Amino acid sequence: MLETNVKKINSSYFDEKTERILASLEETRENFWNLDRPSANFLNMLIKINNSKNVLEIGTSNGYSGIWILKALEETKGRLTTIEFWEKRQSVARKNFELCADNVEVEPKIGSAILILEDLEQEIKDLKRDKFDFVFIDANKKEYIEYFKIVDKILKSGGIILADNILTHYEKTLPYINTLFDNLNYQSQILEIGAGMMISRKK
Ligand SMILES: C[S@@+](CC[C@H](N)C(=O)[O-])C[C@H]1O[C@@H](n2cnc3c(N)ncnc32)[C@H](O)[C@@H]1O
Repeated sequence: MLETNVKKINSSYFDEKTERILASLEETRENFWNLDRPSANFLNMLIKINNSKNVLEIGTSNGYSGIWILKALEETKGRLTTIEFWEKRQSVARKNFELCADNVEVEPKIGSAILILEDLEQEIKDLKRDKFDFVFIDANKKEYIEYFKIVDKILKSGGIILADNILTHYEKTLPYINTLFDNLNYQSQILEIGAGMMISRKK
């Protein structure tokens, strides 16, 4: 039964070119720490369900999850800002984005996530950019709590935070988990999907 469902999740959904690129990235998934397909499918659906238009990703890698985000943003007519400190990975991701969704605006940011988040916060304070309505956290697990301290300030009311590797890196992400569950401004739930994802909605 479970196997049947997993196969259903894995059936082709996007255009042929996108599916070909996703399939080739899935072959090297372990090297680039990409999401598995069910988690990526969930991420894509969540952006569409929430009609999110201004998405921030922390941890681009080679762009696998980014492609799924862009495919959702094609529908919601949104834009993606995505952070990665490894320049080579960010440039591979950019090529993958162009191949799969060249109609969606992407703002790649190269550098340390915390420093870039601080810059984004300042730009929002200076009214140079809008707050985000969806943040996907998938970079350094020990830093999740530090990301949250800034993300909280740059996320709109009603916005969503989705954090990956909550169960596979439980000890490292525990300060993040506890902070979110203790914060009454957020409603949170851990989902046993892929590496374990925590979804949090800001009031
Ligand atoms: C788990 S991978 C991201 C996978 C990607 N979200 C996907 O599913 O395709 C984490 C990425 O975050 C990057 N990273 C880790 N710590 C970072 C930091 N402090 N600042 C910026 N990028 C970081 C790593 O280089 C790595 O490519």
